[in-house]
Amino acid sequence: MADAFDVVIIGGGPGGYNAAIRAGQLGLKTAIIESRAALGGTCLNVGCIPSKALLHASDLYEAAQTRFKSLGIEVSGVSLDLPQMMRQKDEAVDGLTKGVAFLMKKNKVEVVNGRARIAAPGKVDVAGAVLEARNIIIATGSEPTPLPGVEIDEERIVSSTGALALKQVPKRLAVIGGGVIGLELGSVWRRLGAEVTVVEFLDRILPGMDSEISSGFLRILKKQGMRFELGAKVVAAEKASSAIKLALEPAAKGGSKTASALDVDAVLVAIGRRPVTADLGLEAVGVKTDQRGFVETDQGKTNVDGIWAIGDCTHGPMLAHKAEEEGIAVIQRIAGLWGHVNHALVPSVVYTTPEVASVGATEDELKAAGRAYKAGKFPFMANSRARTNHETDGFVKVIEDEATKRIVGVHMIGVGVGEMIGEMCVAMEFAASAEDIARTCHAHPTLSEAMREAAKGVDGWVMQA
Ligand code: FAD
Ligand code: NAI
Repeated sequence: MADAFDVVIIGGGPGGYNAAIRAGQLGLKTAIIESRAALGGTCLNVGCIPSKALLHASDLYEAAQTRFKSLGIEVSGVSLDLPQMMRQKDEAVDGLTKGVAFLMKKNKVEVVNGRARIAAPGKVDVAGAVLEARNIIIATGSEPTPLPGVEIDEERIVSSTGALALKQVPKRLAVIGGGVIGLELGSVWRRLGAEVTVVEFLDRILPGMDSEISSGFLRILKKQGMRFELGAKVVAAEKASSAIKLALEPAAKGGSKTASALDVDAVLVAIGRRPVTADLGLEAVGVKTDQRGFVETDQGKTNVDGIWAIGDCTHGPMLAHKAEEEGIAVIQRIAGLWGHVNHALVPSVVYTTPEVASVGATEDELKAAGRAYKAGKFPFMANSRARTNHETDGFVKVIEDEATKRIVGVHMIGVGVGEMIGEMCVAMEFAASAEDIARTCHAHPTLSEAMREAAKGVDGWVMQA
């Protein structure tokens, strides 16, 4: 294998391209194979980036219509130029995907366009051309989970991909799934004028998040005008020229409050994502997957020597920064350096207004595990900066393990909390106690003072509430 690559990466998303950059920096001979026209994966092309571009623009549009007036800013004639809003989104995507292509060149990574298949250990086939590899990294990501009975056409019944490119604002939009995609993209279209109804299987939104965050956030979204059918499932969608008729049933026996039908103009199916691992040749080389197709790994290592897997196609949260962490850690290990991902400290942010941010254990998890903990809470209503900005929805909750005196979870709703969570990630990596945060001077007036106050609350010495 004299001419073999040290690393061949299948998939050019945040997992794959960050692995490639690190590999290039470490002098490894590297190739990255991507079947899409542009690098960047789901995140840059049809995920994080376009959704954040629309969230930002639609938030300003709503602010100009509703929030400016009370700040003494009179604007008139505010109107939506949807094609321009979509163009600025596409420009952000285009600029960033080109940036990734540039970084491949800069780090001497060979980019191969096409669909890859593992032909044998150490051999990756792309349309008949075989790349020899000492290490193969599977970074093939994920795709929307389909919903039987509700066929996606990406025009009127859309996945997140179609919801990022609707040509007009639907009068009535049904969102199936009250998870991150449903609430972010549902918020975009509500702000732009759609009547949005979220149909969620469970009796709560954002499953997996701290339940107090879920219920607090539900109240806020309802106040903003989003409607919810909780504990409900969509069993069929019938398309007519005038409307799409959704048939709903209670998700569980005995559930009764659910509407039985919903007439809408567009439907977003956002019930989760599934790994892209079929037709990759995994069975032939013996790489283990679970029943749902996720590649089984231990810190990136599969059960087959020389084959690694990272990001959405493996277990854990489907997040770009988790994929990136794993990509870099695997390359470090391939290069004989130290590489490890602390999966307990992967933050999660919902980029609505206000935002939701979370890291570490929830109260629900600690209760279920029977672990003794103390929680401190502080509302943004009592934070001077939030009050000054008239953005007082939400709160911060800091949870400390009673035995170790370490912060084990932070959960927040509030404007700007997506940026604030980073401070707590650093603190938790350094094994901070709530008292460490409570004794750290924070600038005044800032939103992050609410985090300090919540930390003080763990030991009962909140100053400002
Ligand atoms: P992907 O980004 O999915 O990349 C995998 C790539 O592999 C794809 O480009 C695919 O074309 C390619 N591929 C697959 N099979 C092959 C093959 N056989 N040969 C060649 N190429 C192949 N995460 C966040 O952290 N923050 C957010 O704000 C956020 N927002 C999101 C919004 C939306 C609407 C969606 C859908 C997702 C969002 N995510 C967000 C999730 C994030 O996009 C994913 O977690 C992330 O992209 C996973 O990275 P990855 O590298 O594992 O896979
Ligand atoms: P999700 O797992 O977050 O939410 C799916 C929701 O659909 C759940 O609440 C689930 O209970 C519900 N559901 C499942 N089947 C249903 C059915 N038949 N009827 C009604 N409801 C049903 O998945 P989502 O929102 O599709 O997002 C996929 C992934 O993308 C997430 O795991 C997330 O990590 C990632 N993402 C991250 C973002 C961020 O970090 N800001 C933004 C968008 C996506």
